[in-house]
Amino acid sequence: MRILHVASEAYPFSRTGGLADVMAALPAELVRLGHQVSVLSPWYADLLGTPHEIWRSGDLRLGEIVEAGVRFLFLETPAFKRPGIYHDDDVQRFSAWGRRVLTALQAAGVRFDVLHGHDWAAGLVVAHSNLRRLPSVFTIHNLQYQGRWNLYESAGWTGLPDWFARVEDVEFYGDLNLMKAGLIYAGHVTTVSPTYALEITTPQFGEGLEGVLQERRRQGQLSGVINGLDQERWDPRTDGHVLPYGDMAGKAANVAALREEFGLDDAPILSCVSRLAVQKGLDILLAALPEIVKSWNVVLLGSGDVQLEAAFSGWARRSPRVRHVTGMNEALSHRLYAGAHAFAMPSRFEPCGLSQMIALRYGTPPVARRTGGLADTVPEDIGFLFDDATPEAFLEALQRAEAALATPTGWNARAGRGFDLDFSWEGPARRYLDIYRQVAGD
Ligand code: ADP
Ligand code: GLC
Repeated sequence: MRILHVASEAYPFSRTGGLADVMAALPAELVRLGHQVSVLSPWYADLLGTPHEIWRSGDLRLGEIVEAGVRFLFLETPAFKRPGIYHDDDVQRFSAWGRRVLTALQAAGVRFDVLHGHDWAAGLVVAHSNLRRLPSVFTIHNLQYQGRWNLYESAGWTGLPDWFARVEDVEFYGDLNLMKAGLIYAGHVTTVSPTYALEITTPQFGEGLEGVLQERRRQGQLSGVINGLDQERWDPRTDGHVLPYGDMAGKAANVAALREEFGLDDAPILSCVSRLAVQKGLDILLAALPEIVKSWNVVLLGSGDVQLEAAFSGWARRSPRVRHVTGMNEALSHRLYAGAHAFAMPSRFEPCGLSQMIALRYGTPPVARRTGGLADTVPEDIGFLFDDATPEAFLEALQRAEAALATPTGWNARAGRGFDLDFSWEGPARRYLDIYRQVAGD
């Protein structure tokens, strides 16, 4: 089968989070299963890689890089000629891009049997595929970002017929909503864990789109397909960024190295690698810090919300038990998964989450909220789960971790079970193939 993925990021060329990782690992697995796979994303000015130009017409340019058998395609439009992935005018930029994707691919001779769009930035491409009667699947990685803009102002942006502006279509409380376009016009909608697939049909998690999602579910066209993990990239036995290890004794050397690197005392280390966004519940971690630092060191890697950044950096200046590093730092992220005792993930919602799977495979039990993909991937006999999105509930789970740490043999047996967990992409990729066949009518 010829599959075309469309997304705003793809590792290693552009990345702000897990979506990019999925856009590398899922396609590679589909190739391994014998399919022809392309991944289309914008040709960002500061793309990490040099595509080779395969087609050009007017102000459009299509480039290509083939890696692990996957054909990565990059479409340049004028709005992507400035550095950075996301900006304030994204709805306009991704509209101007998305409305031209299919025309450009057709002119460039790129053919596919099914189009798989990811998140709101691909919503318009799905709408246009529907108009052309091309089979499509749409995956929600995060329902909170929807690509909304005042309908009146955005009227000319989409290239869709006027009737699309109805409430049955892309209209949403007086706005254009590109996530909704994906949800309505795809042959099948998926999201990245079974629990999140249920959660998003409720007002608490549905971000206003629960009605649309309930309808798709009634039609049997909403599925939860759990993400896998690139288990070669995230393997403590071969990881070049850490002191490679395959058991808890080997992990201890990484703990010692991390203590040394950050000048930490003997208290256990709680690490966190995360976008600083409301979603990730880091305000909960922040509120719990006065208690946490009584018995833990905390090392946080991540940027985002300016207030959270300032608060954590302030803590790092005042407390020798708190460290905060900003920016994207792949190498340090590996050291934090390897060198901490436990990993914090107090997410308010979590469509899937990759960090907890990495932490588990690195022998670092997650202290995580029981929601979305965290509920589906963190085994109760390894991680420390909690229900309420409150500092108290988080602290209670952390105290369970602390109590367990007091018995080293028990702790090592517990954390060590994570090394053997299987987060392979094969099962999920086969599920997607079934869905592709269904929408393509094969
Ligand atoms: P999300 O996509 O919602 O941000 P995921 O858990 O799916 O969350 O994926 C996050 C990925 O991004 C993980 O691989 C994590 O290690 C990585 N990551 C997040 N922040 C940073 C950072 N500051 N530096 C390096 N890697 C990061
Ligand atoms: C989103 C979600 C995260 C998920 C990732 C990849 O960024 O926030 O939970 O793991 O997409 O699907």
